[in-house]
Amino acid sequence: MDPLLALRPWQAPEVTSWGRLPMNAVDRRAGALKLDGDWRFQLLPAPDAPLADVWSSAYVPGVWTMQGTDDLPQYTNVRMPFAEFPPASPPADPTGVYEREVDVPADWSGRRIVLQVGAAESVLLVHVDGRPVGVSKDSRLAAEFDLSAVVSPGERAVVRLTVVKWSDASHIEDQDQWWHGGITRSVLLYATDPLYLADVTVRAGRYGDLRVDCRVREAGGALPEGWYVSGELAGHLLTQDTEFDRANAEDDRVSDFLGEARLLTTVADVRTWNAETPELYDLTVRLHRADGTVTDASHHRVGFRDVEIDGRDLLVNGERVFIRGVNRHDFHPLTGRTVSYDDLRGDLALLKRFGFNAIRTSHYPNDPTLYDLADELGFYVVDEADIESHDHAHEIADDPRYLNAFVDRVARMVLRDKNHPSIIIWSLGNESDYGANHDAAAGWARRHDPTRPIQYEGAAKLDWAATDDASDIACPMYAPIEDCVAHALSGRQTRPLIQCEYSHAMGNSNGTLADHWAAIESTPGLQGGFIWEFWDHGILQHVNDARPVGRGGAGLYDNGVAAPGHRWAYGGDFGETIHDGAFIADGVVFPDRTPKPVMSEHREIAAPVRLECLRHEGIVVGNHQHFRGLDWLAAEWRLSLADGGTLTAPAELPALRPGETAAVPLPFELPEDGGEAWLTLHVTTAGDEPWAPRGTVVCVPQVRLRAAAPQSPPPPVRNRFVEVDGDGLLVHPLLTSAPTLSLWRAPTDNDELGGMAVNWRAWGLDALEREVVDIRRSDGRVTVAAEYAGAAGVVRHTQVFTAVEGGIHIEESAELPDALTDVARVGSVFETVPGLDLMEWYGQGPWESYPDRSFGPPVGHHSVPVDELFTPYLRPQESGGRHGVRRFTLSAPDATGLTVALDEPRQVSVTRYRAEDLTSVAHHDELVPRSGCVVHLDAAHRGLGTASCGPDTSPSYLVAPGIHRWSWTLRAL
Ligand code: GAL
Ligand code: MG
Repeated sequence: MDPLLALRPWQAPEVTSWGRLPMNAVDRRAGALKLDGDWRFQLLPAPDAPLADVWSSAYVPGVWTMQGTDDLPQYTNVRMPFAEFPPASPPADPTGVYEREVDVPADWSGRRIVLQVGAAESVLLVHVDGRPVGVSKDSRLAAEFDLSAVVSPGERAVVRLTVVKWSDASHIEDQDQWWHGGITRSVLLYATDPLYLADVTVRAGRYGDLRVDCRVREAGGALPEGWYVSGELAGHLLTQDTEFDRANAEDDRVSDFLGEARLLTTVADVRTWNAETPELYDLTVRLHRADGTVTDASHHRVGFRDVEIDGRDLLVNGERVFIRGVNRHDFHPLTGRTVSYDDLRGDLALLKRFGFNAIRTSHYPNDPTLYDLADELGFYVVDEADIESHDHAHEIADDPRYLNAFVDRVARMVLRDKNHPSIIIWSLGNESDYGANHDAAAGWARRHDPTRPIQYEGAAKLDWAATDDASDIACPMYAPIEDCVAHALSGRQTRPLIQCEYSHAMGNSNGTLADHWAAIESTPGLQGGFIWEFWDHGILQHVNDARPVGRGGAGLYDNGVAAPGHRWAYGGDFGETIHDGAFIADGVVFPDRTPKPVMSEHREIAAPVRLECLRHEGIVVGNHQHFRGLDWLAAEWRLSLADGGTLTAPAELPALRPGETAAVPLPFELPEDGGEAWLTLHVTTAGDEPWAPRGTVVCVPQVRLRAAAPQSPPPPVRNRFVEVDGDGLLVHPLLTSAPTLSLWRAPTDNDELGGMAVNWRAWGLDALEREVVDIRRSDGRVTVAAEYAGAAGVVRHTQVFTAVEGGIHIEESAELPDALTDVARVGSVFETVPGLDLMEWYGQGPWESYPDRSFGPPVGHHSVPVDELFTPYLRPQESGGRHGVRRFTLSAPDATGLTVALDEPRQVSVTRYRAEDLTSVAHHDELVPRSGCVVHLDAAHRGLGTASCGPDTSPSYLVAPGIHRWSWTLRAL
């Protein structure tokens, strides 16, 4: 039997690899032979099943679960997709066999030849020409094998990569994401001189000190005499500090000897690296033989920066930086996991544009290109090892059979990624309880890289103030704001508090994000956190046969929506019986990277420029960055007048260092009319940034210059009664459904998972029985009293209709019994005739907002087509709301339509869907838009919170029982 199969490495946690080369930070991507493309492929039912004669083909890199096999993607969060306990895996274990010929270049003769498999899940077995070469686990890091002894330059070799899907390793790769099988990153073949750089470690501090440690090997022999390394940093030569050369050519018992050499220098006037100004220096390290010939070289980009923890502060270059982070998976709706340079650049540029400065690579080392781009574009990175044993966390954390795997995974991540200035923290993994295996891994990382702190949520969980565990940072998940603040104020805080996950972005969510940041920015000891998460992991799927579309699907989606006949699949959509549904759709962007409205909210919360209004001195402008001036920004003043449109004026941003403020005169004379007035600073990039072209909006901070004067209702028109029918319902030519009381919304994911939706259904809020109890006409007014009955009692609702100049004034009140402790909304709902396709409003906008997610949208005059007001959340739910609306118009192209003026800034939504339309389907593509508008005007609307995972909204955003009053005026255009 094949010795690799005989070893049964898929059932042996102690075996992390066999025949695999040590991980290192020498980048071999340039100059390598790429073996990507179609490989011969067959899928076996188990690793030891016999091979068939028939081969199909599969694309590398890629997962077979997205390439036409019957083994399809499966989504589970905590639970394992199979019943076996660790370290066992199920007997039915899909195993992909990939095979292809490789022509080994003739000019590689005499060279050392290495195969690199970028990533394979979860166990990789390598054969060349039928001979066993090696085994590797650790699905998100490359595995390298020395093929020098098994291939011949100028000849053709058959490379076979066998990938076993389920193994002992699956139990520590139990992250909340899709399960796939396959080879997800590129496969390379490269050659080096026998004398080669085995590793390069770069350390560069903020005062310009640079140290480069090189490890050198000679394949198959002792190191030759006289070798040396040289370095070139941005054109300057570095010399070797020879004392560190421990090469010992005398010892001929050693066949593969290791030499070490160090380069040292100090760069004068160094431009330091930070996420705002990510200055990089090019470094080339060269290895020479005694005669000076270069045998190997390695290119690096060096960022000079320091990371340290000082008490409870995490400092970058001595600055207590705010961590405006997001958790990011390597995900793609067409490939599953394989991401290209363009994908990664798109992700990071988008994050920069929306104010993020940090990424946690949840929950495994990401594609190597991510770190290159983070260095280049400027992100603080928490690099996380591929360890999550969620379902069996407690058993595994102290299981010595898994000790190797824990240390191996952390060590290999550190070895690969240590030279990236962007990485400021190592993470030992996610949701794996806490045990001796973590301490062992932490010990390895601390010894190998004393320059970076370590974090692990599970270690710091029980006591944020402890100092004796494997985490230098207290990095809880989904901790309530109050708990964080209380800890920071307790006097007990010993280490930085930076949430590794907070503000769960499932569906229509991220309520109270601004409240989090108000607390963080005002409380010493709090420094930020990482939103969960970047992606909605919807896989593009054909609706007819429920198959994934795969690589060829580019163009089959737009603006967050799949093309007709397609949809974004979530858990259960591939026919899985064990799955966790839409919990996989919990990102701040749609599966095609279209930003959800919360991105704009975040952009404003993170604004580098802020405004404050001083009554007499004018406006105070502040620079809220840590390292950068304002010279990269351009700005324009905009004055929004409730009664007079928008005025603009050029803005000169003051020269401010980080943290400074300056008062500037008011750019406009306020008109005397007394109406509400808001001043916005429209801030854009002044030139091209690597992540945004010139003119990209950076933030739109706003201050109110004048509040609205108190309004009195429009005067009644004498002798005219508004028309209501026998049920007391308004009769109006523009309305197809009269305004009635609404207490319900289509539950958001937070409403469902947080338990609110259950109560609402139990109270019958989705189907209240309306009964008119009185219709009275007097004094020119029609008063309709109605009762809405549900299981929690009767809600009394009154509408007073008055004919006014050009329309109808409606005063409403609703009295909620005490049993209705927490409803979704209190307001009116009505429907319009078709054809009113444009909404224009004065209020907050233009993007979607809710009471607890309304920090960002500036007050102004906005205009959006009705069809674009609705946000296409993957699982339909309440969507499309606008907060702080004062008045709005719905119009047809011929300028007919209606206008509504509200008594106060209110929550309004205009969509094509009734709440029950949204709850009757499971995917966005199943929705059938109505031709008219469904309009909600809310006197009160419940906050969104984040209860699908984490705290609900704050009590101040709940809708209380008792009497609610609101009024509005409806006019035809
Ligand atoms: C966390 C976990 C994440 C994800 C999230 C919920 O507990 O670390 O991987 O499951 O919850 O979406
Ligand atoms: Mg988990």
